[in-house]
Amino acid sequence: MIKKTISDVGSDGLQGRTVIVRADLNVPLDNGSISDDQRIRASLPTLQTLTDAGARVILLSHLGRPKGQVDPAYSLAPVAVRLNELLDPPVHFVPHTHGTAAAGALEDIGNGEIAILENTRFEAGETANAPELSRSWAALGDMFVNDAFGTAHRAHASTAGLADAIRAKGGEAVAGLLMATELEFLEEALRVPERPFVAIIGGAKISSKIGVISALLPRVDRLLIGGAMANTFFRALGLDTGDSLVEEDSIGVARDLLATGGDRLVLPVDCAVAKEMVEDAQRRAVDRTGVQPGEKILDVGPRTRVLFVDVVRGAKTIVWNGPMGVFEIDSFAEGTMDIAHAVADACDAGAMVILGGGDSAAAAERADVVDRLTHVSTGGGASLELLAGAELPGVNALTDRSG
Ligand code: 3PG
Repeated sequence: MIKKTISDVGSDGLQGRTVIVRADLNVPLDNGSISDDQRIRASLPTLQTLTDAGARVILLSHLGRPKGQVDPAYSLAPVAVRLNELLDPPVHFVPHTHGTAAAGALEDIGNGEIAILENTRFEAGETANAPELSRSWAALGDMFVNDAFGTAHRAHASTAGLADAIRAKGGEAVAGLLMATELEFLEEALRVPERPFVAIIGGAKISSKIGVISALLPRVDRLLIGGAMANTFFRALGLDTGDSLVEEDSIGVARDLLATGGDRLVLPVDCAVAKEMVEDAQRRAVDRTGVQPGEKILDVGPRTRVLFVDVVRGAKTIVWNGPMGVFEIDSFAEGTMDIAHAVADACDAGAMVILGGGDSAAAAERADVVDRLTHVSTGGGASLELLAGAELPGVNALTDRSG
């Protein structure tokens, strides 16, 4: 890790300081209640460390995509309530994003306490990375901690912009504990992976994962493809895919990846198909050459499950991003569940297993294997960018250890 972290600063350096923390508290909401608080829990170690050290914490996060306007449906108020339930130090909700109203409310916050401001994306300047907005947040404290790994691939006013602004006024911008852990695991997976190195990439679209597939393909021993993106590869092979989801625009890309990947790129050999994507659908297993008009491919088939599990079983480093089928529906969850159990077994046997993306994390949770895995990333897009070899603006802007 070349960037400075809060551990490098140490508790003496935090005591009595006003620290602005950017976390990624972008949690799913269902009718206003938090349906998965994993990202909130993942942010606790940094918040606890800072408050234990006697820092005064001003917490920022986005929630959803409210497009630069105040939208009560995306208020961070429920997140503040949850934080208060999970943390000992008091967490005060400030219903303003920045400015004099926010600054006034912050006057009452003492050392060892936390104030969370309202959703950064209620400000149009947030996603535009407006320097004046970054400066207004930087004015509230004397140190910046970026713990928002899930948002590190965005150059926004409260991420990269705020790091620049705090450094411009002589303060330090350092990584939080979650950010440091995420970078350590994801970068280590790529640095010197113990072999065999296997990547499992699934989900609906190749287009959103071309970068990661292209970057991993030359480095892995095997790259297993599942989910609806396999259909686009099938079409590149000239196979019929019935009524399955296919990205017509990406068939050429799939053809190129097949040509460069050779034996390393492993496609499903059979599929589970149905006419409808519903729980009680009539399902059948077919060879990938046997999909009929009107049928949809909704999971990998039984022979593929055996093939994939076999590859995973022998692996020493595994990166998994994206489900093998429509795992939210029980009838089409077998492929994804088999992979979840297989990666957990491999991890028990000594492999390093890194999961990225909300869907894979949800699948691991459903299979009840999360605690058996080396690392489950809180970042979807960010982990894909990092694995694709891209630089993360939210990390780049932080203070170097040497500087
Ligand atoms: C995520 O959920 O991946 C992060 O919080 C980033 O959210 P965004 O895709 O809306 O920028």
